[in-house]
Amino acid sequence: MATVLKEPGAALNYDMSDASWYVEDRWQEPFRQMRELDPIHWTENGMFGNFWNVTSHKAIQHVEALPEIFSSSYEHGGITLADRIDDGTELVMPMFIAMDRPKHTGQRRTVAPAFTPTEMKRMSDDIRRRTAEILDGLPWDQPFDWVDKVSIELTTQMLAILFDFPWEDRRKLTEWSDWAGDIELVHSEELRQERLKHLYEMGAYFKKLWDAKINAEPTPDLISMMIHSDAMSEMDEFEFMGNLILLIVGGNDTTRNSMSGLVYGLQQFPDQREKLEQNPELIPNAVQEIIRWQTPLAHMRRTALEDYDLFGKTIKKGDKLALWYISGNRDESVFEDADKIIVDRENARRHLAFGYGIHRCVGARLAELQIAILLEEMAKRRMRVNVLEEPVRVRACFVHGYRSMQVSLSKY
Ligand code: HEM
Repeated sequence: MATVLKEPGAALNYDMSDASWYVEDRWQEPFRQMRELDPIHWTENGMFGNFWNVTSHKAIQHVEALPEIFSSSYEHGGITLADRIDDGTELVMPMFIAMDRPKHTGQRRTVAPAFTPTEMKRMSDDIRRRTAEILDGLPWDQPFDWVDKVSIELTTQMLAILFDFPWEDRRKLTEWSDWAGDIELVHSEELRQERLKHLYEMGAYFKKLWDAKINAEPTPDLISMMIHSDAMSEMDEFEFMGNLILLIVGGNDTTRNSMSGLVYGLQQFPDQREKLEQNPELIPNAVQEIIRWQTPLAHMRRTALEDYDLFGKTIKKGDKLALWYISGNRDESVFEDADKIIVDRENARRHLAFGYGIHRCVGARLAELQIAILLEEMAKRRMRVNVLEEPVRVRACFVHGYRSMQVSLSKY
């Protein structure tokens, strides 16, 4: 069996968990080299310790299809490269994204009914109305920050509707989501404590919402739906909170960064932007392509529960693996000219940005719907969004996105 050190790619000395690759937008080349020379590559003493980089489309799918061997469970380390801190100070809020079967199955069932095609149809008028309102409120004569005015506002409004969350406090959802999803904070004790403070505040807020709904008649929002579902009997209060946080974080940064990514990405490929402008029927496919190109979550982590030979590499029990979706989605053996947005790319749907297998994103349809409606409403207004300078990117190896992006509008 091959050992790591004898592989040609072992000379690749990249730590892809270092956030600077992403904040400086330099991650493409090292991942390309890994896919070519050593698609399952071992990193030692990285920012998050030792781990395997799984970088090819094929290998990522392979690992995701074996959830009994490659665990997502927080008991074994969870889904991000940051290890749990077991000194009693961590706030443990178990979420089903970080659970294995059979527990995962029951808990996923409590929220899945909120994302069926029928529910999406029910929500689409509301999403369209809100999207239209936001676009109609944008200034045509001066620059503004697309992230703040459109991406954050739209995703936050959507979550507030999903949770029946007090409207005037909805930006708290953004704030909490940013704190909850920022795994880089483990590097600073002060920021880790600050993060805990925000998570406790969020927990207390949701406890109030839960108390108000538990003895009330069911309403068509996620909190009520979860409380009144059969599978709720399988959840304690901590798990309920954990799953709420999961929905906030899951539905927030990801959709937000796709909405920013579509503006930035289309600006990089003006021929494709024009093709989309002239052929709005391409929007459903372009949505897939933009999500592939952006890949708003760069990785998910798995932990091996037993020794396993992964395409010639010996993964040892207890090893952690980073499934780099951001790399799999640029795999040239699957996506020709993979660094380019091609709005009518035939196999755009094969992207891994939503993961694969039993944990595949439960909110994927909602995300796709929101992004499609945004593109449709922009098309109706013949709105072109021009990026004025390089955006400020998120400093993280998990969430892959933008903090701010100055733009101006023009008609086409
Ligand atoms: C799971 C990405 C939008 C809720 C996931 C996973 C990824 C992902 C990569 C993990 C898959 C795995 O481990 O195999 C995205 C992207 C989105 C998005 C790129 C937007 C473009 C949403 C939305 C919601 C949501 C809108 C809900 C409001 C969840 C939940 C899970 C999940 C609850 C856990 C599923 C499970 O473990 O069974 N998502 N997501 N996501 N996502 Fe999303």
